[in-house]
Amino acid sequence: MRIKENMKTKTEKDVEKTKDLKVLLDEKRVFKPSEEFTEQTNVKKWMDKHGIKSYDELLEKAKDLEWFWGTVANEVVEWFEPYNKVLDWNPPWVKWYIGAKYNIVHDALDKHVKTWRKNKVAYIFEGEPGDVRKLTYWDLYVEVNKLANALKSFGVCKGDRVGIYLPMIPELPIAMLACAKIGAIHSVVFSGFSATAFRERLNDCEAKVAITCDGFYRRGKVIPLKSMADDALREAPTVKHMIVYKRMTAGSELVPWNEERDHWWHEITKDQPRTCETEILDANDILYTSGTTGKPKGVIHAHGGYAVGTAHTLRWVFDLKPEDIWWCAADIGWVTGHSYIVYGPLILGVTSIIYEGAPDYPNPERWWSIIERYGVTVFYTSPTSIRLAMRFGEEWVKKHDLSSLRLLGSVGEPINPEAWIWYYTHIGGKRCQIMDTWWQTESGTFCISPLPITPLKPGSATKPLPGFTADVYDEDGNPIQNRGGNLVQPTPWPGMLRGLYKAPERFKEIYWSKYPNIYLAGDVARKDDDNYFWIQGRADGVLNTAGHRIGNSEVESALVSHEKVAEAAVIGEPHEVKGESILAFVVLKKGVEPNDELRSELREHVGKEIGKIARPDKIKFVTDVPKTRSGKIMRRVIRAKVLGLPVGDIATLSNPEAVEEIDKAI
Ligand code: PRX
Repeated sequence: MRIKENMKTKTEKDVEKTKDLKVLLDEKRVFKPSEEFTEQTNVKKWMDKHGIKSYDELLEKAKDLEWFWGTVANEVVEWFEPYNKVLDWNPPWVKWYIGAKYNIVHDALDKHVKTWRKNKVAYIFEGEPGDVRKLTYWDLYVEVNKLANALKSFGVCKGDRVGIYLPMIPELPIAMLACAKIGAIHSVVFSGFSATAFRERLNDCEAKVAITCDGFYRRGKVIPLKSMADDALREAPTVKHMIVYKRMTAGSELVPWNEERDHWWHEITKDQPRTCETEILDANDILYTSGTTGKPKGVIHAHGGYAVGTAHTLRWVFDLKPEDIWWCAADIGWVTGHSYIVYGPLILGVTSIIYEGAPDYPNPERWWSIIERYGVTVFYTSPTSIRLAMRFGEEWVKKHDLSSLRLLGSVGEPINPEAWIWYYTHIGGKRCQIMDTWWQTESGTFCISPLPITPLKPGSATKPLPGFTADVYDEDGNPIQNRGGNLVQPTPWPGMLRGLYKAPERFKEIYWSKYPNIYLAGDVARKDDDNYFWIQGRADGVLNTAGHRIGNSEVESALVSHEKVAEAAVIGEPHEVKGESILAFVVLKKGVEPNDELRSELREHVGKEIGKIARPDKIKFVTDVPKTRSGKIMRRVIRAKVLGLPVGDIATLSNPEAVEEIDKAI
């Protein structure tokens, strides 16, 4: 594949020199895929079949949602019984493939074991210590069936919830699929989250069973997950059984054990039958709930639409073919892993990599060595990881032959052109197009993203995919061009969320109340003259650190829950590697002395309440934080001060002198 750079207004050197994220607004270069590459892509072949001549024509044609999503659905999934209607749209409620009988596990596993794919490797797993396991579709199928039977023996039925707290090991997809197979709903909690976060999720969904492991490896250390799960279960009364996978190579006998509640995975699955009937469900039955932060917000996804959405977007955006080795280097605990390590790739019958550990353990060449050793062809990661790799330097990359790669991807946060160019040059060898995919836990699948046939502009996620729409609205709901506004999605798509678990009012309020019947994504974006989208970050109230979405108020509540803290204000501060870092202004209770020891104690406290990723990077002690008369903390004012921007009107503040306090502290 050859990529032409057909327009250059800046030299690569200029871009590589600048460290300023603002350069994004000036980015004008366009990278076009070569024709010879375009001709070979899945999307181009589809267009030829349907007599569609250009990318623009494809976007136009796909505006007929029923035609488009009806056609692609029948290409990527097998229904038990077909649907009688593609779409039922009664905003904010949506149903896709009405009347279809379905189960996503049929497409992810059952259908493959009847074909040559039975013996194809589904997952290549590499543990952090270097242990390797390869599981074929057949292996996965048998393991899933055994666990599904074990779950049934604990009384888990259709519609019951199971909380999963597992690291990046093959048992995580196995556990998810076992739940889905019997129609149970899984709620996976990222293994980097705290015991408190796991407990809150278990209680929110009233889980019957929890699944975890003894411990796992991260940066050469053992993370004692079972002990953390024990802590969570102390106050999770609905959980009657905990299944524990033995991951540790030594020391498992030392993990604390509750004879009545705890069961070793290998013991309860040992004598289970190797087959298990796949529950016949409605296409709109719930598959899973997922949230992005410690506080529960159960985003609901359903079997049918989600299956079509993940498989279809993956086959088009990353152009996956039977011979590919696909590596989505996200964690399965987040939506990216759910959609593009578990369901999408398995439905397509792809071979994927699962790597347990840290990218830079034991040194920064680990990832590049994995790409070389397994011949990874398509690689998908986050801008934070790319910026981290840039910081380590290309010497680590150069030690490895990355010529197997043909396509790259980015997700989770805006990618600055400097990182884009570095990724393109040093990882992709200037051969590989970069698919910058914009989407969310709520969307379930890519929404705004290039296809491999799309001309690229570094830093832009380009346009909504065929079958999706997006726009940028001002405060009054008027579409705007070339200025920042609220990102919205006016039409439904199959993978979209179906609600928030047990919280329909909250669902309406968060996503559907600002503009009637229009989905509000919560991001600020800009649309340029070519209708390319430039995502600028979250709207007020949520920060994005290292691709993790964390509510400012959540970190504030965690800080305030410490006995020595009276008040806290948390903002995201631009950070060269993580996109944003977490900066907290803390007001201590009367008589408490600020010092470094307390600073570390507060960081650890937040780590314990939410998870390590939410620990503030910096804590500044102040005597007051700016507030409105109704007591709302004015993060906007604090952020403006920190960034050296005009603070705007502060007349509405109840304590304007607090702004000076912030000034002194920074
Ligand atoms: O702000 C956007 C950012 O990540 C948010 C969604 O986070 P989460 O639900 O955790 O899912 C992350 C993985 C899909 C969005 O609201 N985001 C995601 N992808 C991009 C992005 N920002 C800019 N460019 C992207 N490609």
